[in-house]
Amino acid sequence: MTASARFLEQTLASLTSALPRWSSVQELIENRLQPSHHGDMPRWRKALDALPTPDAARLELEDAFRLEAQLNNPAALRQTLMELHPWRKGPFHIGDVHIDTEWRSDWKWQRLSKHLPELAGKRVLDVGSGNGYYGWRLLGAGAASVIGVDPTLLFVMQHAAISHLAGEELSAHNLVLPLSLEDAPVGDEEFGVVMSMGVLYHRRNQQDHLQSLLQHLQPGGLLVLETLVTPDGVDLIPDGRYARMRNVWCVNGVQGLIRTIGSLGCSDVRCVDTTVTTTDEQRSTDWMHFESFEHCLDASDPSRTIEGHPAPRRAIILARKQARAKDGQLAESPETS
Ligand SMILES: C[S@@+](CC[C@H](N)C(=O)[O-])C[C@H]1O[C@@H](n2cnc3c(N)ncnc32)[C@H](O)[C@@H]1O
Repeated sequence: MTASARFLEQTLASLTSALPRWSSVQELIENRLQPSHHGDMPRWRKALDALPTPDAARLELEDAFRLEAQLNNPAALRQTLMELHPWRKGPFHIGDVHIDTEWRSDWKWQRLSKHLPELAGKRVLDVGSGNGYYGWRLLGAGAASVIGVDPTLLFVMQHAAISHLAGEELSAHNLVLPLSLEDAPVGDEEFGVVMSMGVLYHRRNQQDHLQSLLQHLQPGGLLVLETLVTPDGVDLIPDGRYARMRNVWCVNGVQGLIRTIGSLGCSDVRCVDTTVTTTDEQRSTDWMHFESFEHCLDASDPSRTIEGHPAPRRAIILARKQARAKDGQLAESPETS
């Protein structure tokens, strides 16, 4: 069986055994990964099918994604993985091959992970998971399993490649599905942690997005929201582009966002980190050779975007979904779930 066929088979098997109700989206997942679904899919699948299966690999996930493996031909592996360019989220270390991605996602992980509670036994939903980088790091931090959803098929194929190299045993616990949040079946509040990082500002209706996230979260569960925020606390609705991005609908003021989340049935809502993005954290590399963040800033004043808005800063907000009392009223949530 080819690696791409195996990826699909394993993804569906792991998904339906963990979340039987999600078998309703099985056909959607299969269709989106068919060669006919995207012009580049045949090339991506060919790359996946050309990957080696490393011998005696040891996977380190706590401090980084590092696969210690003997590669017969690192140059060939590099070339194959380059078929999946651009690599935006990472980095990944695979033997002697270092996928130096556009984003130092490990820096965001460091800012977030120190605020996460005990993850042992927890099932996590990562909305807008990209290529599944944070899923690996969540497993390294003790999460039982991670389901990522992301409609960008290239990122799903990158995840398929990394999963193939990482081996089936661990990959069964970190899935990336070619779905958007809106495709995900709702009903049983199946997740102890729901994350949405880098998605809210792309949503035209932010309240709908937040409500959808909460629909997947167990009472008492943790919501992790990471998004662009303004320095002055006032919502910014860009008229046109923001930092060259076409689809930014709102850059939030932190306090207003905290109030909104609280009004949707969450307690203990708090901003645990605010960081201004730098050209060290997001930049062009050999693995993402298009223009990157430095071209989004005003060359004469890097505190401004090229359109004259305040330069991007990102906040991490945590919240607990309140437990529902028997009479349907919201009650204070327990500390764990
Ligand atoms: C800016 S990236 C953030 C990736 C990653 N979460 C991070 O923080 O680095 C936004 C991601 O959200 C995905 N996305 C956009 N709309 C989505 C939706 N409705 N449901 C799920 N993912 C979505 C995009 O494909 C993209 O990979």
